[in-house]
Amino acid sequence: MFQAIPAKKGDSILALMTEYKNDPRTEKMDLGIGVYRDDTGNTPIMQAVLEAQTLLHNSEPTKAYQGLIGDAEFNEVIAKLLLQGTDALNRCAALHTPGASGALRNLGDLIYATKPDATVWISNPSYVNHRPIMEKAGLKVAEYPYLNPETKLVDEQAMLAKLAELGENDVVLLHGCCHNPSGADISIDTWQSIAELANKTGFLPFVDIAYHGLGDGLVEDLKGLHTIVNQVEEVLISTSCSKNFGLYRERTGAAIVVTNTQQQAINSRALMCELARGSYSMPPSHGAGVVKTILNDEALTATWKQELTQMTQRVQGLRNALVAEFQAKTQSNRYDYFAQHKGMFSLTGFSDAMLEKLKQDYGIYIVQGGRINVAGLKQAEIPQLISAILACEGL
Ligand code: LMR
Repeated sequence: MFQAIPAKKGDSILALMTEYKNDPRTEKMDLGIGVYRDDTGNTPIMQAVLEAQTLLHNSEPTKAYQGLIGDAEFNEVIAKLLLQGTDALNRCAALHTPGASGALRNLGDLIYATKPDATVWISNPSYVNHRPIMEKAGLKVAEYPYLNPETKLVDEQAMLAKLAELGENDVVLLHGCCHNPSGADISIDTWQSIAELANKTGFLPFVDIAYHGLGDGLVEDLKGLHTIVNQVEEVLISTSCSKNFGLYRERTGAAIVVTNTQQQAINSRALMCELARGSYSMPPSHGAGVVKTILNDEALTATWKQELTQMTQRVQGLRNALVAEFQAKTQSNRYDYFAQHKGMFSLTGFSDAMLEKLKQDYGIYIVQGGRINVAGLKQAEIPQLISAILACEGL
């Protein structure tokens, strides 16, 4: 039965993670998978998370099942975190999911259950798992133009021109902030144009905001999403607590459906629960318990916000240091885009040959396409990284 299964390379990000782990060299740099590291190379457990875990440990009454919607209080606080201040909060329903990938798949299943002929439009480039998740949900996937390979910034005109051609059978998957893999975000004017186009042509906006808080901060990072939900009746949202709460392995995320009435949102969530029952059934509870404990407690929320700000500032500092070092070494501004990008990643567009040389000769691991996880860098590694890049340039 299984003899016909061919050997697989697997997901490029996860394959690189394994390759890095198996590399026996001590001098190596992991700039692959999207995890935040501090300047010692450790991915810390946030203080707010440590305290919430203790509270949870001492107060959790049972390990009995929570049911298909997962942690109901988590669903409320996560919807508030994203939608507070918009009227969408009164016409939405959230479903606790295993990470944002679980949310993406559940919403893909929802689209398929209601409109099986829909096409999901993803940015070119997009998060490596967007296409496989949507295709495995049975949906057609197509790409809209996004990144200008020369400037490494968004080609907003080309993007909007393509979106203007879409219609009611289309779903447009957008990155709420901190675009993965490029780091290049769209302007508020473009978010406004997208809202207007969605209303004019009828496409469904689907906002993946897995990096909320890692760009310009918790409030600023919501501006695009709020521009959409304030003007468009139906919107899908996927979110993650992996990065902003540092809960990676706890697999904590949510799928949120915004509809025209609260009842419609509840009906949609009932269908989402049915779809979840057909796959993972119920999400793991621990991460959601931690998040709700933090967000329901003023002091813990303040600690968490402060820690998140420090993380974001560290990454911004690394971006500025990269630019300064590149400028000093090349007497040019061709790498200035690092400081214009937001969030953990920057897409360099380095060739496969260059990435292979960086890996083989310098032990530097960068994801295919040249996505550098800036948030995984140590300050002291910057000169070494830049020397290696400049030595390999032109390959
Ligand atoms: C990434 O893009 O590196 C992260 O989102 C990790 C993942 O699940 O792919």
